[in-house]
Amino acid sequence: MGQDLEKVLVTEEQITTRLQEMGAQIDADYAGRDLLIVGVLKGAVMVMADLARALHSPVAMDWMAVSSYGAGTTSSGVVRILKDLETDIKDRDVLIVEDVIDSGLTLSWLVGNLKSRGPASVEICTMVRKPLAFDVDLDVRYVGFDLPNEFIVGYGLDYAERYRNLPLIGTLAPHVYEDDA
Ligand code: PRP
Repeated sequence: MGQDLEKVLVTEEQITTRLQEMGAQIDADYAGRDLLIVGVLKGAVMVMADLARALHSPVAMDWMAVSSYGAGTTSSGVVRILKDLETDIKDRDVLIVEDVIDSGLTLSWLVGNLKSRGPASVEICTMVRKPLAFDVDLDVRYVGFDLPNEFIVGYGLDYAERYRNLPLIGTLAPHVYEDDA
């Protein structure tokens, strides 16, 4: 896939190092508590798998799949649930795990939805945050990397469902889009 990349923004090594730091912070913050981490499919698969293994407590793991209505590639903020949690989160400590927060609209909706179920707490962990996310009222407790507003792929992030399996985060070369046009 190397020939399809324009530039690397975050290396595999940087991701690994940051995950260890985030894992240590989450371990400390949730010490003695019964944490449920919730991955948002499909992008969060990589960060869930690696973050979970960076934690030292036996966390529970569950998954949601959500989809934004609206045309094109931008989130509309109107979300529907494609796959719901299997876990009753009443009185549970919940940590939502995401690959990226872009407009922040998906997470705003999701936090509200999960809070309506009566959990003890709901926090957010994301590997990447884009600048637009600062425009919404969203408290993101754990952030891997703040990146500029570019179209990025890798480590769960896709272009037309491909490149999720890149072990790093980068931008695609123009020829990839041109080949698809
Ligand atoms: C991505 C990402 C978030 C959402 C963030 O998912 O995983 O869920 O977009 O965008 P927002 O902050 O602008 O709302 P996507 O809808 O691309 O689905 P995927 O995880 O299956 O790739």
